[in-house]
Amino acid sequence: MKLLDYLCIMQFQSITEKDIIFFRDLPGIKAVLNDEESILACASDQTEDLCYRAQLVIQPETVEAVSAIMKYCNEAGIPVTPRGAGTGLSGGALPVYGGIVLDMKRFNRILNVDTRNFQVTTEPGVITQELQEHVKEKGLFYPPDPASKGSCFIGGNVSENSGGPRAVKYGVVKDYVLNLEMVLANGEVIWTGANVLKNATGYNLTQLVVGSEGTLGVITKIVLRLLPAVKHDLLMLVPFRSATEACAAVNAIFLAGHTPSALEFMERDALEWSMKYTQATGISLPADIQAHLLVEVDGNNQELLYKDMEEIAAIVQQYDIDEILFADTHEQKQMLWALRRKVGEAVKSNSVYKEEDTVVPRAELPELLRIIKKIGKEYGFQSVCYGHAGDGNLHVNIVKAGMSDADWNNKLPEGIRKLFKEVVRMGGTISGEHGIGLVQKNYMDIAFSKVQLQLMQDIKKVFDPNGILNPGKIFAGEF
Ligand code: LAC
Ligand code: ZN
Repeated sequence: MKLLDYLCIMQFQSITEKDIIFFRDLPGIKAVLNDEESILACASDQTEDLCYRAQLVIQPETVEAVSAIMKYCNEAGIPVTPRGAGTGLSGGALPVYGGIVLDMKRFNRILNVDTRNFQVTTEPGVITQELQEHVKEKGLFYPPDPASKGSCFIGGNVSENSGGPRAVKYGVVKDYVLNLEMVLANGEVIWTGANVLKNATGYNLTQLVVGSEGTLGVITKIVLRLLPAVKHDLLMLVPFRSATEACAAVNAIFLAGHTPSALEFMERDALEWSMKYTQATGISLPADIQAHLLVEVDGNNQELLYKDMEEIAAIVQQYDIDEILFADTHEQKQMLWALRRKVGEAVKSNSVYKEEDTVVPRAELPELLRIIKKIGKEYGFQSVCYGHAGDGNLHVNIVKAGMSDADWNNKLPEGIRKLFKEVVRMGGTISGEHGIGLVQKNYMDIAFSKVQLQLMQDIKKVFDPNGILNPGKIFAGEF
C-alpha cells in the first residue's frame, strides 16, 4: 500500500454513546471519563503549551481490558493514544486526533523482583524512582534516571527510550529492557522476546518497540535487567570561564581513561535560572563564569573513587576554571542534583520556549555549542544549553524573549532546521532522549532518507494497518 492510500483510510470515527456504553460495561476498567477535568488532564504534557482534547479517557486495569478496547477501536476506526504520566517533551502522549486516551496509571504494580537473576517485572504505570527504590531495597540497581524520575512512568520511559545523567556510564532504557508484554492494535497480546541477557533469535521485536512512542502497541508488562547496587558516589561542580572550554574538558576526561557516572553541562543561564527557581543558597556564581560541569563518579571502593575524582580535578584544572565545589554531604549532593534536574522547569517558568534535544559524537561537543550560538545570532534567538555532555547530548532551550510572534512561528523553524542539518552533518541526530512525537516529526527528513522513512512507515503499517495507534506522531503528514 502506498502512503497516500494509507492516509486515505485514516478517517477516524467519532465516539458515540453506544461506544461509551460498551467501554463502561467491560470488566477490568477502573474509569471511563469524559468530564472536562479528565479530558483536560490528558490534553497536555510537558511539551511547550500544547493542548489536544480526547473525546474519552479510559483507565484500564487489566491486559484483557486493554485487549478488548483495542479490538473494538481497531474495528470501529477510533484513534487510541496510550499515556503514561504526561512528562514527555515531544508531545508523544497527546491525542492529536481526539478519540481515546488510554491512561495507564492503574497499571501501577511491581510484579516481581527476581533477585536470583537480577531482573524486575513491572507494569508500565509505576513511577521510575519508586521502581528504583524498590529494587534498591533488595540490593539491586536500575540506572536510567531521567530528570523527571520522581513523576514519570517506567512505561513512558520505555516508549521514549529515555536517558538521563547516568546514561554516560550505564546506558539508556533500551540497554535494560529484556522483554515486553504488549497489546497489538487488533487486540492480540504478545511477548516481544524472552527474559534472558542474550538473545540471537530472530528479529529483535523488543528493541523495535522500545522508543516507538506508543505507535506499535500498548505495553502492559516490562521485564528489565538490573545491576548490583553501587555503594558510593562523589560529586563535584566545576565553574568554567569559557563554555567552549567546558565542552572541550568533557572529552579530555574520557581520553584520560575515566568514565564518570554523570558528566553534565550547564550554561551560565541554566544554572542561574535554576538557582532562582529552586531558591538555592550556598552557591556563588561569579560574573565571569560562563558554564559548569557537574561530575559524578560511583563505585564500591571509596579510596579509588577519591583517586578518580582527584585525577579528573587535575584534568579540568588545565582549563580556565574557578574554585571547584566538592559536595561533602548527602544534602549538598541532593541540592546540586536538584539544581541540575530543575533546569528545564526553570526555563519553562521564565519564558515561552522550545526544547531541542541535539546529540553529536562526544568529541564534537564544542563545535555543536559554537554552531548553536552562531545560528542563534543569524536567526535572532537566544538559547540556554545544558544536558548530558558526556553523551554528546545537549538540550537546547530556545527562549522566545524579545522575538516577535511572526519570527517565532516562521523564522525559528528555519533556524531549527538549519541547526539539525548541522547536527546530522557532524554525525549526530535530532533527538537523543526526548523522542520525535509530535513536535519534531517535520524534521525527520533531515535525519533519514526517503528509503529509511518508508521502511519505518511500512513497519508501522504491519503493526497497525488501520493507523489507530497514536496517530499523528513520528512521521510528517497525516500519519
Ligand atoms: C533533562 C531533561 C529535560 O535532562 O531531559 O533535564
Ligand atoms: Zn535530559
